[in-house]
Amino acid sequence: MIKKLSYSVYRSLRTKFDISSAYNVAVTKALDRKFSLVLPQETTPFRTIPDHIQKPPYAVTGHLAPKQIGGEDVEVKNKHQIVGMRKAGKMARKILNQTAECLKIGITTDEIDAKVHQLCIENDVYPSPLNYKHFPKSVCTSINNVACHGIPDLRPLTDGDIINVDITVFCDGFHGDLSETYLIGNVDEKGRKLVHATKLARDAAISVCKPGVEYCQIGKTISSVAEAHGFSVVPAFIGHGIGERFHCPPDIFHFAYESPEVMKEGVTFTIEPILSEGNDEVEILSDGWTAVMCDGSRTAQFEHTVLVTKDGVEILTE
Ligand code: MF3
Ligand code: CO
Ligand code: CO
Repeated sequence: MIKKLSYSVYRSLRTKFDISSAYNVAVTKALDRKFSLVLPQETTPFRTIPDHIQKPPYAVTGHLAPKQIGGEDVEVKNKHQIVGMRKAGKMARKILNQTAECLKIGITTDEIDAKVHQLCIENDVYPSPLNYKHFPKSVCTSINNVACHGIPDLRPLTDGDIINVDITVFCDGFHGDLSETYLIGNVDEKGRKLVHATKLARDAAISVCKPGVEYCQIGKTISSVAEAHGFSVVPAFIGHGIGERFHCPPDIFHFAYESPEVMKEGVTFTIEPILSEGNDEVEILSDGWTAVMCDGSRTAQFEHTVLVTKDGVEILTE
């Protein structure tokens, strides 16, 4: 069954979340779409993490200290850091897989958040999104027309949804970050193709990476795969360096561009393209996080954290 947003629900959400008129028009047009159009709903109170779990520096204040912002240099990880990154990547993967087991029609994204939160506690790791720049939950759950950074809430998963679950853990001082998009119930053919093409695009980009290759080859590869399948790349969201910091240099663009910067052995970063079945413009809602597609189109996203090795990359979140 396809649940459509009624005009009255939509009107109240519009007031609550202060959505722009461009988005209003798109949503109105989208009311007869073959998938459920998603807007934020009510959330539950903040979940806390026990004191004995090691926390990243922003966990208490919700903001980044000056030394965790900026810096131009791309860090080459030493042996100790590589060991830590491997461990964090494996842990993020394990928690994503266990979370994925509970995905089914009727469960709310808040229940997904509760699961991720509990798995992190059981494994003695901190869920990196929690209080990162005041993000209120432990995981990002982005459904259909939500491109990324969806905040878990009381909306139940609906037949035909595509949902990205983006897990990052802070494990012994290092972050590991990955995401996948899952099909819920019966997804139409276009939705299935979108999800498939997005995974192909990420994996094709991973396979071109090695020392001496320009970072811009990642974006060129992703955009050519997207184009070949009739989808567009959402340019507003980028991959990133990762390590003791959640986000650090280099920036990883997923669209075609030119730049001479090349990869070096020992660098760790994410590749996390978002592909859209419609146009590529996003709008951030007034909760400061939820990124929705302006035309109400669906998106999919896949993410891995990788380490550049002597002759390629090691996928740390495989
Ligand atoms: N995990 C996301 C990424 O891939 C970042 C989420 S930031 C958050 O970079 F605060 F929303 F969690
Ligand atoms: Co992520
Ligand atoms: Co990331």
